[in-house]
Amino acid sequence: MSSISKSPAWLALSTHARDMEKRTLLELFAGDPNRATRFAIEYDEILLDYSKQRVSAETLSLLLDLARQADVEGLRRRMFAGDAINESENRAVLHVALRSDQVEFPAGRSVMGEVRECRERMREFVRLARSGKLLGSTGLPITDFVNLGIGGSDLGPRLVTEALSPAAGPEPGVHFAANFDPADLSGVLHTLNPETTLFIVASKSFSTMETLDNVRRAREWLGGRPDSGAHFAAVTANVSAARELGIDRQRIFPAWDWVGGRYSIWSAMGLSAAIAIGDDAFDALLEGARQMDAHFHTAPLEANMPVLLALLGVWNINFCGAESHAILPYCHALRKFPSYLQQLEMESNGKHVDRQGLPVDYATAPVIWGYEGTLSQHSFHQLLHQGTTVIPVDFIVPLHGPGDGKSQNLLVSNAFAQGAALLAGTPVGTAPHAASTGNRPSSTLLVDRLSPEALGQLIALYEHKVFVQGAIWNINSFDQWGVEQGKKLAHAIAEGPAIPHIDTSTAALMRRSHRG
Ligand code: F6P
Repeated sequence: MSSISKSPAWLALSTHARDMEKRTLLELFAGDPNRATRFAIEYDEILLDYSKQRVSAETLSLLLDLARQADVEGLRRRMFAGDAINESENRAVLHVALRSDQVEFPAGRSVMGEVRECRERMREFVRLARSGKLLGSTGLPITDFVNLGIGGSDLGPRLVTEALSPAAGPEPGVHFAANFDPADLSGVLHTLNPETTLFIVASKSFSTMETLDNVRRAREWLGGRPDSGAHFAAVTANVSAARELGIDRQRIFPAWDWVGGRYSIWSAMGLSAAIAIGDDAFDALLEGARQMDAHFHTAPLEANMPVLLALLGVWNINFCGAESHAILPYCHALRKFPSYLQQLEMESNGKHVDRQGLPVDYATAPVIWGYEGTLSQHSFHQLLHQGTTVIPVDFIVPLHGPGDGKSQNLLVSNAFAQGAALLAGTPVGTAPHAASTGNRPSSTLLVDRLSPEALGQLIALYEHKVFVQGAIWNINSFDQWGVEQGKKLAHAIAEGPAIPHIDTSTAALMRRSHRG
């Protein structure tokens, strides 16, 4: 397959981009009184307003040609059919099965039996955990759960817990520790009681250094209780390693090779979140994602929200030179969303070779970054408004929140004000130091309120966006080989002494820290 960048659709977009450079956003709005409604799409809980992107109807039509050229629909069909589209690991990509309500899915090699069984076991465990009937080794009820995991085994459950637990009423304490740095776990444990605490070891591989080190320290903290097994549960594909730690088989929940870590919040990796928010809310989260799956699977490309979100990204990255993309949730409960999307987008699409192993000659994933608004305004918005690089922004704005009407009004108004200022800039004649050029692209994603359904739709929306971009760039979005080299070297450096062929800088640093 020749590079997508040589395709007629790509070449047409390159030419078109030079024309669009001459047209400002203000001109585009002036030329079309209906622009705000024409360049927006609504699906159930989410309105995506992309009228502040530097696109015209022709841009969209050319981008849709590119999606067809890249056969996005073909790859989508193959994912939903359970084909091994993660070629480098020869694995199917079936996180969509985790929220499916079909009896058999996918056709021919249904995984729904094991998905349902796992969900039932989760339900039972969550019921016990929330009813106070789960007892520790001394007979006291477990009141606190600590998730020990990292990456996809931490960010998803942490996001969902932080986003939804305030509305879920009284719940057990659910906490997270991910880092090697002992300050992380000890910061969590200092208020907890070993007799009433249960650790959920969340690790698909059960070989991740950070997680295993935290398990070691958790065991020490439990003080070698005769039955410390009562204080552990695990979510893993490596059952034997969990068993070696003495974790009861009944407390080991499965992970599967057809679900990547960063796509696993819908599985038992979401156990700690389900304990925090309750089973009904977790079901509603899955329901929201299921609705987005149905939309993504069936809507034509031009009326498909994940496809449009992906194409806007491709436009900014590949044709307008954007190298980063800011995610700004105007919602404290969504403060982890930028970190969550960092892993989802950059671990999935931070790739330099295509599916055939050939170097790509175009940019793939941008740097994803962000922070909650309005805190971001008092930190880095200066650069968004007046910096020398243009950074596309996604504003994510729930209209109703936990605050009183006045605070919520101020929060939402600030989000809208940022998008409007990025679009229009300052009036002609403003002194140079105070002037903003405007013409800076943004999209706004509105939800009425951050319900579990809305959050499920939002996460699934970005999952499918990443999928579509991976399809267009012809890269494998479902492996992460680049992370491995760093892990191997970290092991070697930790074990010391000298490592053959290590660079002299690292060797000197190792000597200085007595590792070499
Ligand atoms: O960072 C690499 C990675 O493999 C992620 O993809 C994954 O989410 C994380 O490590 C944790 O892996 P595990 O669940 O196997 O501990």
